[in-house]
Amino acid sequence: ATLHAPTRHDSGPKHVTGTAEYIDDMIEPVGTMHAYLGLSTKPHAEILGMNLDAVRSAPGVIGVLTAEDIPGENDVSPSHKHDEPIFAVGEVQFWGQPVFAVIAETREAARRAAQLAKIDYRDRPWIADVRAGQAAGGKLVTEPLKLERGEVDAALTSAPRRARGAVTIGGQDHFYLEGQIAFAVPGEDEDVTIHSSTQHPSEVQLMVAQVLGIRHNAVTVNVRRMGGGFGGKETQGNLFAAVAALAAKKWNRACKIRPDRDDDMQATGKRHDFVVDYDVGYDESGRILAVDAVYGARGGFSSDLTGPVTDRALFHADNAYWYPAVRVRSEPLYTNTVSNTAFRGFGGPQGMVACERWIEDIAYALGKDTLDIRKANFYGTDTDNVTPYHQVVEDNIVHRVVDELEASSDYQARRRAIIDFNKTSTVLKKGIALTPVKFGISFTATWYNQAGALVHVYKDGSIHLSHGGTEMGQGLYIKVAQVVADAFGVNLDTVKIMATSTGKVPNTSATAASSGSDLNGMAAWDACEQIKSRMLAHAAKLHDADEADCHWVTGGLNVGRKHIPFAELAASAYLNRVQLSAAGFYKTPKIHWDRATGRGHPFYYFAYGASVSEVTIDTLTGEYTVDRVDILHDVGKSLNPAVDMGQIEGGFIQGMGWLTTEELVWDDKGQLRTHAPSTYKIPLASDVPPIFNVRIAEWSVNREPTIGRSKAVGEPPFMLAISVVEALGMAVASMADYKKAPQLDTPVTPERVLMGVERMKTAR
Ligand code: MTE
Ligand code: MOS
Repeated sequence: ATLHAPTRHDSGPKHVTGTAEYIDDMIEPVGTMHAYLGLSTKPHAEILGMNLDAVRSAPGVIGVLTAEDIPGENDVSPSHKHDEPIFAVGEVQFWGQPVFAVIAETREAARRAAQLAKIDYRDRPWIADVRAGQAAGGKLVTEPLKLERGEVDAALTSAPRRARGAVTIGGQDHFYLEGQIAFAVPGEDEDVTIHSSTQHPSEVQLMVAQVLGIRHNAVTVNVRRMGGGFGGKETQGNLFAAVAALAAKKWNRACKIRPDRDDDMQATGKRHDFVVDYDVGYDESGRILAVDAVYGARGGFSSDLTGPVTDRALFHADNAYWYPAVRVRSEPLYTNTVSNTAFRGFGGPQGMVACERWIEDIAYALGKDTLDIRKANFYGTDTDNVTPYHQVVEDNIVHRVVDELEASSDYQARRRAIIDFNKTSTVLKKGIALTPVKFGISFTATWYNQAGALVHVYKDGSIHLSHGGTEMGQGLYIKVAQVVADAFGVNLDTVKIMATSTGKVPNTSATAASSGSDLNGMAAWDACEQIKSRMLAHAAKLHDADEADCHWVTGGLNVGRKHIPFAELAASAYLNRVQLSAAGFYKTPKIHWDRATGRGHPFYYFAYGASVSEVTIDTLTGEYTVDRVDILHDVGKSLNPAVDMGQIEGGFIQGMGWLTTEELVWDDKGQLRTHAPSTYKIPLASDVPPIFNVRIAEWSVNREPTIGRSKAVGEPPFMLAISVVEALGMAVASMADYKKAPQLDTPVTPERVLMGVERMKTAR
C-alpha cells in the first residue's frame, strides 16, 4: 500500500538539483518593482520627524510607502489586539522596526535608497528582556494564564524538601534557508494575487484585505512551498505580503519584497526566551509533591502569538510527570525587542526545559541518577494521570518508550563507564542523560482544528489534489498524496499535488502545531470517500449489481467478478454525468478548552519519545562534543517512515542548536548583534553526532482514529535535544563529584560550560 510506505519527498530530487521553484525563482512580469524596508535604529523612541527626500530622489526609486499610504488598517497583527503596525507611527518600539518602504526598479536600488532616510528620534526608556520587564512593573503584551490543581501552598509547606531557583532559557532564530519573501501581482478592479512564503495563506489573505480595505474574495494567496518555516512563517510573512500588495495596487505593477538575511533576523520575531522561577516540593524518594512556577517570556513590542506560545509553555510544564499539586503562571512580558513568535514546539520546549531543570535539581540533591527521579514521577494510570489543565492522560506510553531506549542504548552500563572515566580523566569529562518527551497534539485555539481539501478526478483517471496545508519541507504534500492514492487504490504518480491556494480551499488554519497531516490528510480522505461512493453507485447501476458486491481494490473497482480499471471507471462516470470532484472537510473530535477556568481537554492525543545523549567536555576551555545520541520516537503508525525519520533527526538537531550554539545577543543600545551566520551559529552537517541511532517505535498505534492511526511528528522530536543539556550538566557536575546540581542555563555554549566548571570548583 502507498500509505505507511517510506516514500521519498516529492520535491526531494528537485531540492537537490536546484529545480524546485521558490518565489524568488518565479519569472517576473515586465515592470516588476522591488520593495525594501526602512528600519528603525532605536529600541524605543518618539519619531520627531522623517525626511525621506533623499530616498525618493535616489536612482531607480519609484516611490516610498509610509503609514499614510495605507487605504485600510495599518495593522498585521494576528491577535485581537491589533497592535502590530506595518509602518511605525509616532514612535518606534524596537530596533529594526519597519518605518517605511522604498519601491524601486531593482532590489539593489531599493536597498541602497532605504539607507538614505533621515529620521529624528527622541529616546524613550526601553525594556530589554524578561528581568528588565519584571523590574519595570511587568507590563504584559497579552493576557497571562494560570493553571492550578490541588492545594499548592499547603503541599509546599509540608514538603520534606524544596528545590528553588530560576532557569534562563534562550531564544532562537528560525534561520529558514529561504528568507521572508512576497510577490504581489495586481489584477482587475480590487483584485490582487500574492505569492507568499507563508505557513498561513488564509491569514495573509485576511491581512492584505484588511490593509487594502477590500474584501477577502479579492485576494488570492498562493504557496507552492517554503524553504523552511519552523513557525517563523506562521505570522511573520504578513507584513511582507502587505507591503508587496500595497505597492502593487498603488502603482498597478507587480512588486516583490525580499529582505536581506540581516534585516530578516532583526525585523522578524523569534522563539521566546524565558526565565522560569520555580519552587518545587518533594520527598526523600524524589517524588514531586507540589510545583509553583512563574514563566516570564520576552514577548517583544506586540502580542503576535505570545499568548498561545506562553499558554503552551504551561501546558508542557509537566512534560511526562505527575504533579500532585501544581500552580503555573505565565507572564507574557512587553519588551522593546522584535515581537517574538511561533517556533517549533511553540513554547512547549521552554516549558519542558524548566521542568527537566527541577528534576535535575532533585536528583543531584538526593545523589541519584536523574533517570531514577524521572521514573519516580511519570504519569501513572490511577489518580496520578491528571495534567495541570485537568486533562486525563489516557494514552501514556512513556514507560515503554523509556524502558526500551534505556535497554537498547545500553544506558546503565555506559553511565557506569562514564563515572569511572571521570574518576581518572582530569581534563576531559563525560556525561550521559536520558530525557523523555510527551507533547500535546492539537491547536489550543479549538477552532483551528479544522481543514478542507479539494479533489478532482479527471476523465483519464488522473487526480488533482489541493488542501489547506502548506509544504515547508516537512513532507506534508507527499503524505496527503499517499492518503489519496491509497483511498482510490491508484499509483502515487496518478495524483498531482497542487500548490496551496486560498482560491481552492478557503478559511484554512496555519500549517502548524504539527497537525498538518492529521487535519489535511483526513479532509482529503473525506473528499476521496465522497467521490468513491458516487463512482461506486454509478458502477453498480451500470452493471446492474448490488452496491454491496462492489469493492475498491488496487487499480480500480471490482463489481461482482468484473474488474473496472480506475481510468475506465472515471471515463464512464463522466459520460453518465457523475460529479467527479469533491470538497472534503475534517474537524478534530473530542477536544475542548476553557481558558478562563484553565480546564479542558485541549489535546486530542500525545506524542511520546525519548533520547539518550553522551557528551565530552574540555574542562579547560568549555568546548565539547556530542559523541552519541540514541532516540526512540513515537509517531503512531507512521504514514511515511522515510519522512518521519527526517523529521525526528532534523527536529533533534534543530533542538540541539537551540540548546547549545545558537545565541542571540542584544547590545546595550538595544540592537540585535547576532544577525548573520557569521555571528549566529546553527548546527551544520558536521555537528550531527558521529553515532546517531534513531528509531521509530514501530509497535505504536494511535489509539485515536487519526489518518492511518498515525501521530503528528513535526515538533515533538525537537524536545529530544534536552538530553544534550542534561548530559553536559552531568559532565560539569562531575567536577564536584555530582554533589551539586549543574543548573546550566541555555544555550549551553562553551562559555556556559566553562563557567559551570568554575562554579563546581568553588563548590568543592
Ligand atoms: N520540517 C521542515 N523540513 N521544515 C519546516 O519548516 N516546520 C516544523 C515541522 N517540521 C518545519 C519542519 C514546524 S514548526 C511544524 S509546526 C510542522 O513541521 C508543520 O508541519 P506539519 O503540521 O505538517 O507537521
Ligand atoms: Mo510550528 S511552531 O507550530 O509552525
